[in-house]
Amino acid sequence: MIVQEHYFTCSHMHIQATSSILGAYICEVDLSNLSESEWKEINKAFLEYAVLVFPKANLTDPQQVRFSKRFGKLETLTGNPLIKTLWVSNLDTNGDILPLDDDNFRIIRGNEYWHTDSSYMPVSAKASCLSAVTIPAEGGETSWADMRAAYDALDSATKSQISGLAAYHSFYRSQEELGQEVEIGSRYGFHRSGAPLRPLVKDHSETGRKALYIGRHAYRIPGMEDNAAQELLKELNEFACQPCFVFEHSWSVGDMVLWDNRCVLHRVKPYDYSKPRVMRHTRISGDTSEFAPTDPHEQPTHFAAQSDQSAN
Ligand SMILES: [Fe+2]
Repeated sequence: MIVQEHYFTCSHMHIQATSSILGAYICEVDLSNLSESEWKEINKAFLEYAVLVFPKANLTDPQQVRFSKRFGKLETLTGNPLIKTLWVSNLDTNGDILPLDDDNFRIIRGNEYWHTDSSYMPVSAKASCLSAVTIPAEGGETSWADMRAAYDALDSATKSQISGLAAYHSFYRSQEELGQEVEIGSRYGFHRSGAPLRPLVKDHSETGRKALYIGRHAYRIPGMEDNAAQELLKELNEFACQPCFVFEHSWSVGDMVLWDNRCVLHRVKPYDYSKPRVMRHTRISGDTSEFAPTDPHEQPTHFAAQSDQSAN
């Protein structure tokens, strides 16, 4: 008798929390063909664990785009609204390794510092999705830090100190910190609208949980002297990214990770830059609750007002 075991075993999605304070592994699910109930389970896990690892998901480009769209509209990171996938890669268009002083490579190096995606945009990102296509033998792990747990762990004096504070976020400023002066309007994130002002403590729009909203793009706090503000931001970043709040993933080709930018910071670890590292990235836009007003006076230091007649 033929027993159709495969219909009854290994057919249900398996969700396993990591041993860290955040994150879960999800297996035994076909992400290219999700049922409504599977999607709801994944979304529930996403809101609870904030980082979901799908080992060996092996999605194609269109499949990753379709999966990402289940969570909302996608940001156009490429300049072409028809192309929603950004290749985060140290290769040029010919497949050669980028030189260390190449502008694209210097942007990639910026990802080695704790940040949340698109906090420098008027509408910050809801979530990000990243798949491993080509990875180096060593290094290049990605880490995520839980800003909900970090906020909860702050002492009450710090909580009350930061409760009414907000910071400007700018991609120009964070690259300037690394010695790179990026041409205005040259790529995604380097816009002319001025820096958005975002509260240091964020109420999650779906769960209501409070979380620190900081990272490398935050650089100035209105009402505070700049040195004091930068010191406070540095202390908060260091506190929030201690190992006890961090989950780290060592990639295998085909792995995909989805994370909630509203409540985690992330960074990539260094690797041998002479070896290729190619990741496929899609980014889910925040809804209207992620909008923050921008201050047109908060511009890159090399910004020239007279060149801004065509400001977008
Ligand atoms: Fe990122």
